[in-house]
Order: sequence, then structure tokens, then C-alpha cells
Amino acid sequence: MPNVFAPPHKGAEPRHEQVVFCQDEASGLRAIIAIYSTALGPALGGTRFYPYRTEDEALADVLNLSRGMAYKNALAGLDHGGGKAVIIGDPAVDKSEALLRAYGRFVQSLGGRYYTACDVGTYSEDMDVVARESRFVTGRTVANGGAGDSSVLTAFGVFQGMRAAAETVWGSPTLRGKRVGVEGVGKVGHRLVEHLREDGAEVVICDVNEQAVERVRARHPEVEVVDDRDALIRTDLDVYAPCALGGSLDDDTVPVLTAKIVCGAANNQLAHAGIEKRLADRDVLYAPDYVVNSGGVIQVADEIRGFDFDRAKARASGIYETTKRIFALAADEGVPPAVAADRLAERRMSEIGRLRGILL
Ligand SMILES: NC(=O)c1ccc[n+]([C@@H]2O[C@H](COP(=O)([O-])OP(=O)(O)OC[C@H]3O[C@@H](n4cnc5c(N)ncnc54)[C@H](O)[C@@H]3O)[C@@H](O)[C@H]2O)c1
Repeated sequence: MPNVFAPPHKGAEPRHEQVVFCQDEASGLRAIIAIYSTALGPALGGTRFYPYRTEDEALADVLNLSRGMAYKNALAGLDHGGGKAVIIGDPAVDKSEALLRAYGRFVQSLGGRYYTACDVGTYSEDMDVVARESRFVTGRTVANGGAGDSSVLTAFGVFQGMRAAAETVWGSPTLRGKRVGVEGVGKVGHRLVEHLREDGAEVVICDVNEQAVERVRARHPEVEVVDDRDALIRTDLDVYAPCALGGSLDDDTVPVLTAKIVCGAANNQLAHAGIEKRLADRDVLYAPDYVVNSGGVIQVADEIRGFDFDRAKARASGIYETTKRIFALAADEGVPPAVAADRLAERRMSEIGRLRGILL
């Protein structure tokens, strides 16, 4: 059983502030809401609806994800702490109006300490249902005043991070003439391909879903397609952009990477601690995933104030500067960028969070 009171392995000072188990037997709701930190403001993070095999597995995931959101929100410059929720069950079978509304009542019961949004297994339409019971819901449909699909700004943000990496490695913030491999051309990946082609990059893609590949090829017949990740990382690349699932950088892939830069949307790209060092040892510049993929959370955070696309896009443009700051700090302190990013996030949580000590 994961120990809620144990120090987090990232080494940051604050531990999870609050972990709430929610149950409604009649609707079948079994959910856990974890608030890692409210140092910067109300915790913000999505609801994952997933068929966890055990309660322990669900708890471990929500503790991990909520801590990750605190770091992501801190470096996105948001006035939000980190939180996340998991609902245990198969969304295709177990999702119902009653279950989502029961969940909404638990979110509401936290009085705004936690704002929820979409994640794996939940969609904007589900957030509309949750919002019938709670004010603390974002990521809603456009029809209900929400901002809609967050992958638009996620892809834009990843592209900004990639420009920053290109400037650091090749001296100019453009991918023009570079060969970029995009693994996974789903909601984010196919939009990233648009930015890359517009910027003049050569693009190679792979996806397990034939339709996703065809959608890209229909618009860009010049894009090269390879069979799978293994083929992608071994082909001659300047940049590798993991935009499918997490864990693509591991003990097998890192030694054979041809790319000089890794920058993509997927969450948790590093399969385990220590991979960031192996990348640095091979002189591969890794743009930390949670920094460059924060365009989506920037969008849902903006929606809380009443969505303004231009304002949210302007903030997502800041991912370029933040990524450059991380690379600079990494060089100054002689650590991999993933470590530098964590340090910057912890610094902001501590410096800005401390201000709450000034009585108003
Ligand atoms: N959508 C967002 O706003 C957002 C925000 C932050 C992070 N992310 C992360 O970015 C990644 C992509 O998100 P998305 O919204 O585009 O998801 P998606 O499901 O729309 O796209 C993922 C794509 O990857 C493909 N894929 C799955 N396994 C693969 C494999 N082994 N090899 C190649 N392709 C594979 C899928 O077929 C799909 O086309 C995810 O890891 C997600 O957690 C997304």
C-alpha cells in the first residue's frame, strides 16, 4: 500500500496535503482525489477514469499524478497547485450520469481546494455532467462555455519547447531543414506535424492506428511513415517527439537514439529515474515533458476565468522562454534539464507559496 504520509521521491518539501476517498455504492462510484499542494492556489488536475486492478494501484497513480501536476502548474506560471483524481472502473462500461454527478458532489464538497478537468477516460461532455453538481470544473464543452479540445494549445506549446531546444543546440529557434520524428499522430501529434511542416521541417511519423496515419498523409503526402517506435528512433533524426504513451525513453531506446533533441507531448516519457542522466551522457537534449506539454493545462486554467483563446495562447508562448531558462539552469548547475526543471518548479512553489504568510 503506498504510504500517503511518506516523503515524495522527487525530494520536494511539501507532502500530499489531502487525499480523499469517495464512494457512492448505488452508482458504483469509487474515486480518489489527491491534492499534492495548494501553495500556489487551488489544486488543478484532471480526472482519470481507468480500470485499475487494485485500490493500491489507483492510489499510487493518483499520488504520482497529483505531484506531477503541482510541478507542471508551477512551471506553467499558473496560480494553481497540483491535484488529480482517479475513478476506478472501465469508462466504457461503468460511466453513467449518476456516477459522474456523485463524483461532482465530492469535488464540490472540497469547496474549491480542487478543480477538476478531463484526463484519460474522461471528456469535455463528462465535465459538463460533473459541473451540474460542482462549480469547480473546467475543460468543458464550447457549448457550455468551455474551451473545448486542449490539444490545440498542447501542440503549440510542444512546438515552442522544440524551438527553444533547437536554438540551444543549433543556435536558431527553428526546425527548418531538420528531420523530426513524431511518435503518435493523435490529437496532439497531428497538430504538431502541422506546426513542423509550416516551419519547414521534414517529418517522419509512426502510429499504431492506421487511420491516424492516413489523416496526416492525406494533408501531407510528403510525410514519411515508418512501422513503429523502434524504426522511428533508429532512423536518421534530428528531433524525436514522443506523442503517444509514456515510458518511451528507457534502457533500450536511449542507447540507439539518433536524435540530438527529445521534445514531445507524452506524459512521463522517462521510464525510470536515471534515464535523464543517460540522455545527458549521450549529449541528447531532453526538453522535460511536463514543461513543454503544459499548453493543455494553461487552456483549462484560463477557462476558469472565462476563456480567452488569445490570452491562453500568449501564456502558452511562454513555454519557449521557460524551456530556455531550464536549459540555461541545467548548464549552470551541471545537471540534466529534468532536474533543473524540478528545481525551478520547487523554487516557485516555495517563493510564491511563502507569500501567503503575509497576513491580509
Ligand atoms: N491532449 C492534451 O491536451 C495533452 C496534454 C498534455 C499531455 N498529453 C499527452 O500527450 C500524449 C498524446 O495525447 P493525445 O491527446 O494526442 O492522445 P491521442 O490518444 O489522441 O493520441 C495518441 C496517439 O498515439 C498512438 N499510439 C498509441 N500507442 C502507440 C505506439 N506504441 N506507437 C505509436 N503510436 C501509438 C495512438 O494510436 C494515437 O493516435 C499522451 O501521452 C497524453 O497524455 C496530452
